Amino acid sequence: MIVCDFSSGRPDPESFPVAELVGAATRRLTAEGSDLVQYPDPQGYAPLRRLAAERFEEREGVGLDPDSFLLGTGSTQPLALLSEALASPGDAIITEEFSYTGALSLFRRYGLETVGVATDEQGLRLDALEETLDRLDADGRPAKFVYAIPTYQNPTGAILPLERREGLLDLVRRRGVPLVEDNCYADLHFEAERPPASIRALPGGEDVIYVASWSKILGPGARLGYVSAGTELIERLMSLKSDAGTSNLAAMIVTEFMLQHRREHTAELCRVLKRKRDILVDSLEEQLGDLCSWSLPSGGMFLWVKLPEEIDNVALARAAEQEGVLYHPGRNFDSGERDVPYLRLAFGFPSDEALRRGTEHLARAIRAAIPAGAVG
Ligand SMILES: Cc1ncc(COP(=O)(O)O)c(C=O)c1O
Repeated sequence: MIVCDFSSGRPDPESFPVAELVGAATRRLTAEGSDLVQYPDPQGYAPLRRLAAERFEEREGVGLDPDSFLLGTGSTQPLALLSEALASPGDAIITEEFSYTGALSLFRRYGLETVGVATDEQGLRLDALEETLDRLDADGRPAKFVYAIPTYQNPTGAILPLERREGLLDLVRRRGVPLVEDNCYADLHFEAERPPASIRALPGGEDVIYVASWSKILGPGARLGYVSAGTELIERLMSLKSDAGTSNLAAMIVTEFMLQHRREHTAELCRVLKRKRDILVDSLEEQLGDLCSWSLPSGGMFLWVKLPEEIDNVALARAAEQEGVLYHPGRNFDSGERDVPYLRLAFGFPSDEALRRGTEHLARAIRAAIPAGAVG
């Protein structure tokens, strides 16, 4: 029996706005439903591209051209298209040392080597990035792009400070390496202080390839995300996107919903996420305060838990299964697929009660997976 599913980044099902979506679908389909006899615009439903540009401008204070956007099946499809457009099998690309498991496995499926760059509690270390770029250049296989999640990083929750964002932008521009900024969590902030500007919004950031999604402020079931980039790259991505278009039906409903409810729904989601983060942190403190440490994210959906070095991850996986606790082990996020002593807890989806009970069960599993006599 599943006690708690900490596995993937999904929002809270109880506050999911079903009635508002039904209303949005009725309104938009009544007005435009017969347009569904047509194939979609190859760049995606124009009103949703305008909304994506507005979402960016409202948060970042910088306008983007809706025609610089390409909609996709989630942001996963744009990431897949970028892998094909910017690199070839056998090439190296750079990611944070720990990065989004879906992106890492996708890059690897395209035959790319994911080369991790050391991070600290604030995110990517620029000295380590420069060294890695130098090393790859010296090996005759320069990095084809840098993939980074600077805001509420998945899995660590880190927020790259402004000076490092500026330094990163300066570095990739000097070295002529494309930067893919994945910013899908930026609206999920639940402390007063806002994260710094997106790298795309910084002066000189015009060439940054910007990827984001509606999955995290609505739900991944909508399967709508996007990329914004220069005309030439968008054309290349469109030439690779052989699916005859991203669903206009989904895009119509999401557009209408977002036009009416985006601000209030996002605010509610952030309130729920903050409450759940606090419940999880309190439960961890109670159950595992003597054994583990964890990040304290001010936004996003994840806690990154450091396990005792001695942990036997195979035993932990077995014990967690018996305890009915689902999570992603650190290895899934490691750029080098190492068996690192971490795990990620996604706290958006489980109920408050599941978070409390799940932590208890997880604590039992962790204690069972420490070899006898290993820690005091
Ligand atoms: C950093 C990051 N990028 C992209 C995605 C993919 O989301 P989707 O394809 O649903 O937009 C996720 C999902 O967890 C993510 O964490």
